[in-house]
Amino acid sequence: MHIKSICCIGAGYVGGPTMAIIAKYWPDIQVNVVDINPERISQWNEVDLSNLPIYEPGLKEIVEKCRGKNLHFSTDMKNNIANADLIFISVNTPTKTKGIGTGQAIDLKYVEASSREISKYAEGHTIVVEKSTLPVKTAQTIKAILDASTKGENNYNQKTFSVLSNPEFLAEGTAINDLENPDRVLIGGEDKEAINGLVDIYSKWIDKGKVLTTDLWSSELSKLISNAFLAQRISSINTISALCEATGAKIKDVSRAVGMDRRIGKYFLNSGPGFGGSCFKKDISNLVYISNHYGLFEVADYWQKVLDINFWQQSRFVELIVKTMFGTISSKTIAILGFSFKANTNDTRESPAIQICKKLMEEGAFLQIYDPKVKYSQIKKDLESDEEEIVEGKWIYSNSIHETFYNADAAVFLTEWEEFESLNWYEISKKMRRPSWVFDTRSIVNMECVKKSGINIWQVGYGN
Ligand code: NAD
Ligand code: UGA
Repeated sequence: MHIKSICCIGAGYVGGPTMAIIAKYWPDIQVNVVDINPERISQWNEVDLSNLPIYEPGLKEIVEKCRGKNLHFSTDMKNNIANADLIFISVNTPTKTKGIGTGQAIDLKYVEASSREISKYAEGHTIVVEKSTLPVKTAQTIKAILDASTKGENNYNQKTFSVLSNPEFLAEGTAINDLENPDRVLIGGEDKEAINGLVDIYSKWIDKGKVLTTDLWSSELSKLISNAFLAQRISSINTISALCEATGAKIKDVSRAVGMDRRIGKYFLNSGPGFGGSCFKKDISNLVYISNHYGLFEVADYWQKVLDINFWQQSRFVELIVKTMFGTISSKTIAILGFSFKANTNDTRESPAIQICKKLMEEGAFLQIYDPKVKYSQIKKDLESDEEEIVEGKWIYSNSIHETFYNADAAVFLTEWEEFESLNWYEISKKMRRPSWVFDTRSIVNMECVKKSGINIWQVGYGN
């Protein structure tokens, strides 16, 4: 099948970068990214590329090159769906907040809405690709919705569909590199011609040996399990960080020694404030839900522990900060360094910083928050989302890193931004109130330099 036009429903952290890469490698294919959120679309169309809705190294250069040529962002679902030979569904799949499965099951309402739009507007034969991360067997639901429109006399446009699963493995902050050099591309489906069409798209820049094809259910499940395994490693190393603090072993040495065993591998062994981001928590919660649904209670309990440890790590840090600062942080000023859930992204979804900051404010601290990429409005939204707890007046946004330390009793490092690694601690120590502390939850600051400046320091995974 010759693909001339691609549509992507959902202009988010996955839809935007993924389609930019396809547009880069396929100048002859028209790539249309559509979204129901007009504000997001207008940000993607911003003349000033530093205002794109997503910060991702390397992204704006590609958008600059392709936008208006073969990469378009719009809210016009009808025409872009009708013209597409292949449609990616790349909408958000949040955890349900109401009804059956609250807090665990995935809310499929956006996926269902997209499928209904496709079923209404598609013309001729269309390949529909699940790009969003979905519970195993969701393709069945999508197929049922699409097939309903192919039956009966209303099918004037002779619609037919093939459904594929093609989960995305990119990580934020490295999205462009991950898309250009993936470890693998996974395509699940039954229709060989449709699979080959998608394989051809990727083969333009990815070695065919890295493109793995499976059935639909294996593909859907593999995505959930990849995230679960990654998150499990983080919870594992975080339990060991506490053990290192108790015994005097050094977490980085332990991670290095363990990770040098090729069977274990060196990645995802950095201890920190727990995993954040929009996906690990929701995907593992979903895995727990699915396992319980199939009566596999031990399996569910096993994965639930990964989530419990993540929560525990954040709570123990807050307790430790309060205990170290003479048992109270009431009316003390705390500098917060980093608010995004990891470095090189402006995304704050499920960022450990949100819970940690809220808990510190609950204990009475006043926060001065700095992040190189997260805007004031986003932090305000995240911190002021709880209706019961009024946090207004309990924190301020620092426009520069140096302001953040002014009069602070403590500085808490929550994101591993590179600029935090080489700070002038002598200058900082003059700005802080004494006795002063640094709590480094990412073990990124130079411990010796901090100590030399007369500031007390605690680092995750290091005993005193
Ligand atoms: P996102 O929230 O950034 O973007 C989703 C977009 O879909 C939003 O702009 C929303 O307005 C739009 N949308 C929702 N319903 C729509 C509809 N009916 N029609 C048109 N647009 C609609 O989400 P994301 O981070 O891009 O994640 C999307 C999916 O990809 C999720 O399933 C997620 O689990 C998965 N995923 C995310 C990442 C990541 O790093 N963020 C990586 C791999 C996979
Ligand atoms: C993660 C996966 O890495 C991607 O493969 C997947 O596609 C994506 O989820 C998804 O499905 O959304 P992402 O959440 O963007 O990507 O970022 P990660 O690099 O995985 O980091 C997640 C969290 O774990 C961050 O808070 C990070 O700081 C933390 N982390 C990561 C650690 O605490 N230690 C580590 O060693 C690695």
